[in-house]
Amino acid sequence: MSDSPIAVPPAAQLDALSQKAEQAFCAITDATSAEQFRIAWLGKKGTLRGLLKMIRDVPEEQRRSFGARVNELHDTYEEKFASAPWQEHEHTGAAAFDPALPGFPFPQGSLHPLMKIRNEIRDIFVSMGFSVAYGPDIETDYYNFEALNFPEFHPARDMQDTFFLTATRVLRTHTSPVQIRTMELERPPIRSIMPGRVYRNEEISARSYCLFHQVEGLYIDRNVSFADLKGTLLAFSRRFFDDNTKLKIRPSFFPFTEPSVEIDVECFLCKGKGCSICKQSGWLEVLGAGMVHPRVLASGNIDSNEFTGFAFGIGIERIALLKYGIEDIRFFFENDLRFLRQF
Ligand code: PHE
Repeated sequence: MSDSPIAVPPAAQLDALSQKAEQAFCAITDATSAEQFRIAWLGKKGTLRGLLKMIRDVPEEQRRSFGARVNELHDTYEEKFASAPWQEHEHTGAAAFDPALPGFPFPQGSLHPLMKIRNEIRDIFVSMGFSVAYGPDIETDYYNFEALNFPEFHPARDMQDTFFLTATRVLRTHTSPVQIRTMELERPPIRSIMPGRVYRNEEISARSYCLFHQVEGLYIDRNVSFADLKGTLLAFSRRFFDDNTKLKIRPSFFPFTEPSVEIDVECFLCKGKGCSICKQSGWLEVLGAGMVHPRVLASGNIDSNEFTGFAFGIGIERIALLKYGIEDIRFFFENDLRFLRQF
């Protein structure tokens, strides 16, 4: 027996349909498009009425819920349509021009979740007295590596899988080159954060993508110590995550800082007890940091006998994945409106 495929949208397709209805409703900009919406979606021959007629093709056990959902969708948009502020235009007639009447809705966008997190991070550091600096996405080998104490052929270069454009030009693998550019332009005290997009030639998966975003931080002055690094990042974490957040500092290695550390923050979801987001450890890895290496200060023409500094780097995607409980980093780059509308 060959069953012909049922031509009725199954429950899953109803979700897509309600998205479409919302998009069409949001696209109403004038009386003509309002009427087109009414005919296409709410009219006797409209999509939603049409669906109800097809209910006999839906498998028996799904009919009730299918019918209920279609009716609900129809009622929702009938109500939205009838109570839209621009309906006032209809009642007064086009001839009576009343500038006080509400206008047709203007489709509004919203900030991408990554930009939201970036802005939150930026605002906290700006309130602590940091300024914001930017640098180019295409960098020279000098700024991306050499000036940051990755000499040619040094194995540390392999820490960051690099996209080379030419032998000496790369897509920057981190925002640290902006440290050097800032030191070239400014004299201490320097207090800057540098947000930006970075690129790595990594295999694309749920956890890693060929591009992502970082916020770099740099603080250089007389007598800047490791305690300042700790204090600044603790103050940041308490404002960003939770008033009582704790930090765990682990030794690490970066060529441009000495000593180098990685900083874990106490998991803001389970408060350190252990949950699926922190993989039962109670801690989240979110930051790389350290005291600026004297050779890096020298690249920026800053005398390391007189000045010291700290630097740190935060991965924006990582924080956004954790904060919003998102399972796949690729969602951030696909620009699917169903994903973006949730923020
Ligand atoms: N640039 C480092 C990275 O991308 C992060 C970092 C920045 C570490 C500043 C220490 C200081 O991995």
